[in-house]
Amino acid sequence: MTDRFTPTEDDRFSFGLWTVGWQGVDVFGGAVRPRLDPVEAVHRLAELGAAAVTFHDDDLLPPDLVPDEAARRRELDRFTKALAETGLVVEMATTNLFGHPVFKEGALTANDRDVRRYAIAKVLRNLDLAAELGARTYVLWGGREGAESGAGKDVAAALDRYKEGLDLLCGYVREQGHDIRFALEPKPNEPRGDILLPTVGHAIAFIDELEEPDRVGLNPEVGHEEMAGLNFAQGIAQALWHGKLFHVDLNGQHGPRFDQDLRFGAGNLRGAFWTVDVLEGAGTGRAYDGYLHFDYKPPRTEDTDDVWETARACMRNFLVLRERVRAFRADPEVTEALAAARVDQLAVPTLGEGESLADLRAEARDPDAMGRRGMHLERLDQLALEHLLGVR
Ligand code: GCO
Ligand code: MN
Ligand code: MN
Repeated sequence: MTDRFTPTEDDRFSFGLWTVGWQGVDVFGGAVRPRLDPVEAVHRLAELGAAAVTFHDDDLLPPDLVPDEAARRRELDRFTKALAETGLVVEMATTNLFGHPVFKEGALTANDRDVRRYAIAKVLRNLDLAAELGARTYVLWGGREGAESGAGKDVAAALDRYKEGLDLLCGYVREQGHDIRFALEPKPNEPRGDILLPTVGHAIAFIDELEEPDRVGLNPEVGHEEMAGLNFAQGIAQALWHGKLFHVDLNGQHGPRFDQDLRFGAGNLRGAFWTVDVLEGAGTGRAYDGYLHFDYKPPRTEDTDDVWETARACMRNFLVLRERVRAFRADPEVTEALAAARVDQLAVPTLGEGESLADLRAEARDPDAMGRRGMHLERLDQLALEHLLGVR
């Protein structure tokens, strides 16, 4: 079926190989689906209208399948041939710093110095591959950087080592001339009991301490902020305000619980509406211009064919919501409701041009009268809800 919600490469949708390729291994059970060949993933995603793929080193080149350099080259040649045949690009790459037992206590912030040195070498190797394949963004998700208990992790020392790791990686891409920026992906917990840089706000503050902060931004994930009870749309709006929204992981989540990684649009649908609104730059004038990357897991209940339906649905839901958001922003009644809620006034500086604080203090005011003014926000929100529900 082709309709106005069928994506094209201009929509710049992107998928991790590990998303459609998730075999369903969880803490309670083993694989429910066979391994998906990255070459097949590229072809299927291209047919569905995606524009790009992303990968962890071990998704593309599983160590047990590519035991030596010749096998590694063979797999890479098959993969780059598939990219050339379909026109898909690699927009982002990342390192698996969580799967192998060596990373059980952390990677860039592991207590064990040997582990940290191994982790950096693993990232460096894959950074070269990322550059070779044309990726411009390199994600660092520190799922194992954290702790389950207090005394076992010196948080200040761990942050020193996190900074050292990032500084070394930034220096490396600069020296190599790689056109790559790093994007930190916050997550509050899981797999560690508590993870370092747990939210967008923590990560933004950390970036300020780095030697080359301009090379480092964020890759926020919908579900990760919502696991912490936070508002994702507001989080990415702040990241955009700081010029730090380098990348985004779109998926779905039902409030604070384990990381669900549902398809985009499932879970908190109203949150998804405002997420698309912020990404479109509506209301803020600062649009996101990167790839729209889905990081979700097709549930274990689904078979291999169902997986492609979930990938299609992620893109379709984004396009449906984009249409709903645009209709909301173009509705004259919404324009009027925004003005009634004085949303436009917020763009006006509090102190007037040439005015002094003494002028401000001298002004006559009636706080009781101001306090009686209704803000009419419910009418505005009801209009949004009706656009979301498709009845306007
Ligand atoms: C999660 C994370 C991961 C990372 C990915 C990149 O759901 O916990 O999103 O999927 O994004 O592994 O390293
Ligand atoms: Mn997740
Ligand atoms: Mn993610």
